[in-house]
Amino acid sequence: MKVALFGLGYVGCVSAGCFARAGHDVYGVDVNPVKVEILRSGKSPIVEKDVGELIAAAVEAGRLHATTSASEAVHATQVSLICVGTPSHPNGSLDLRYIYRVAEEIGAALRHRDAYHVVVIRSTVMPGTAAEVARILETQTGRKQGEGFGVVVNPEFLREGSAVSDFVEPPFTLLGGEHERALDVVAQLYADVDAPIVRAETRVAEMVKYANNVYHAAKITFANEVGNVCKALGIDSHKVMEIFCMDEKLNVSAAYLKPGFAFGGSCLPKDLRALTFRAKDLDIPVPMLESLIASNALQIRRVVDQLLRWKARKLGFLGLSFKGGTDDLRESPIVEVVETMIGKGYDVRIYDANVSLARLFGANKEYIEKEIPHIERLMCKTMDEVLEHADVIVIGNRSSEFAAALGRLRPEQRALDLVRLLDEPPESERYEGICW
Ligand SMILES: NC(=O)c1ccc[n+]([C@@H]2O[C@H](COP(=O)([O-])OP(=O)(O)OC[C@H]3O[C@@H](n4cnc5c(N)ncnc54)[C@H](O)[C@@H]3O)[C@@H](O)[C@H]2O)c1
Repeated sequence: MKVALFGLGYVGCVSAGCFARAGHDVYGVDVNPVKVEILRSGKSPIVEKDVGELIAAAVEAGRLHATTSASEAVHATQVSLICVGTPSHPNGSLDLRYIYRVAEEIGAALRHRDAYHVVVIRSTVMPGTAAEVARILETQTGRKQGEGFGVVVNPEFLREGSAVSDFVEPPFTLLGGEHERALDVVAQLYADVDAPIVRAETRVAEMVKYANNVYHAAKITFANEVGNVCKALGIDSHKVMEIFCMDEKLNVSAAYLKPGFAFGGSCLPKDLRALTFRAKDLDIPVPMLESLIASNALQIRRVVDQLLRWKARKLGFLGLSFKGGTDDLRESPIVEVVETMIGKGYDVRIYDANVSLARLFGANKEYIEKEIPHIERLMCKTMDEVLEHADVIVIGNRSSEFAAALGRLRPEQRALDLVRLLDEPPESERYEGICW
C-alpha cells in the first residue's frame, strides 16, 4: 500500500521504517526541510535502536521517500498517517494546532482527487479530535466523511528506546472509527503484525491512549512511593515488588479496573490509613497514596450530589454492604451515602439479603445493632417493599436479584447504578451509572 506519513519525529520515523520494511511505499512529509533532507539521504533524523538501519534499507530499496509537500504525498498515496506532535500548552491543555494544520493540508489536496483516501490519526489526541479532523476534511473537500474519505484513530503505543520492537510486537492494534471501509484499509496496513486488531468507537480509541499513559504514570509513582517507604524502613523494595507482581489474580491483572463506586470494607481504608500514617511518621511524603483517600471520598460525594440533584425524597437502596456476597458493613461507602441522605431528611428503605440474614445469625449482628441501629430500622425484608416505596433506586452492590429490579422500574422511577449491573446498561433518561 502507498502511505503518506506526516511528521518525521519519533513516531513518524519509527513508523516509516517499519511500514517500509513490511513492503509499503512510504512518503514522509515534514515542515522541517532539514529532516526531509536527512531522510532522503538514507539517514534517520532520530536516534533509536534499529531505526537507522530500517531507514537506510527502505531508502535504498526505493520504498521510502521524503518531501515537504503535503499535496505531493497525498496525491501519490491511499492513506495519510498523521504523526505530528501534540505538545502541552503552558497551562497543561493539549495543543492540537499541528494536527488541524495537517488536516487542512490533506483536505486541500483531496479536493482535487477522486480516489478514496483514509486519514489516520496516530498522534495522541483528546477525544473529539478525530471528529474535528473529519469536519475540517469535509469543509476542505466539500464531501461528507464516507464519501471519498474516512478518518481512523490508530494510537501508537511505542516507547522510546524499544520503539521498533514495540511497533512490531504490540499488545494489540487499536483502530477507532465508524466507517468499516476505512477501518478495513488500515487493518491491511498491519497485515504482517502478529497482534489482534481491536476495533472500537472513535472516542473510545482516543481515550484508551490516555488511560494507558496515565495508568503507566500511576504505576511508576505507586512503585516509587512504596519504594521510598521501604527504604526508610530498611526493606528491600525490589523484593517486595517482585513478590507483589507474582500475584496475577489481583495485583497485575484486570481486577479492580472497572469504573464504579468507592472502595470500602474492613481492609482497604484501614490499611491505606495505616501505611500513610507510618510514612508521615517516617517523614516520607506519599502524595499519591494520600490522594486515594481523598479521591475515594469524592466518589461517595458524587452519589450524594446526584441524589440531591434528582430531588426525589423517597430512596430505595438495593445492597448495603461494600460488595455483593458479604454481610460486612464496616466502612461500607453505601452506609455513608445512606447516613448522609437520612441526615438531609430523605425517606430511605434498604434491602440486602446478606445483611438481613446477618441480622439474625451473622457475625455483624452486634455491629449493626450497636453502630448503625438507625440504619437497621430502615431495612426491608423483601426487595419488593423497597421497589414499592422508592422514587429513586440505588443499586449498591452486585446481585442477580437486583438486575431484575432494573427491568421492573415504574415509569416515574429512576435508578442510580453504582456497579454496572448489566453489561449493556439501558439507554434511558431514568437510568444513570456512576461513571459510565
Ligand atoms: N515519542 C513517543 O515515544 C511517542 C509514543 C507514542 C505516541 N506519541 C505521540 O505521537 C505524536 C508524535 O510524537 P513525536 O514524539 O513523534 O513528535 P516529534 O515532536 O518528535 O515530531 C513531530 C514532527 O512533526 C512535524 N510537523 C509539525 N507540523 C507538521 C506539518 N504541518 N506537516 C508535517 N510535519 C509536521 C515536526 O516538524 C516534527 O518533526 C504525539 O502526539 C505524541 O504524543 C509519541
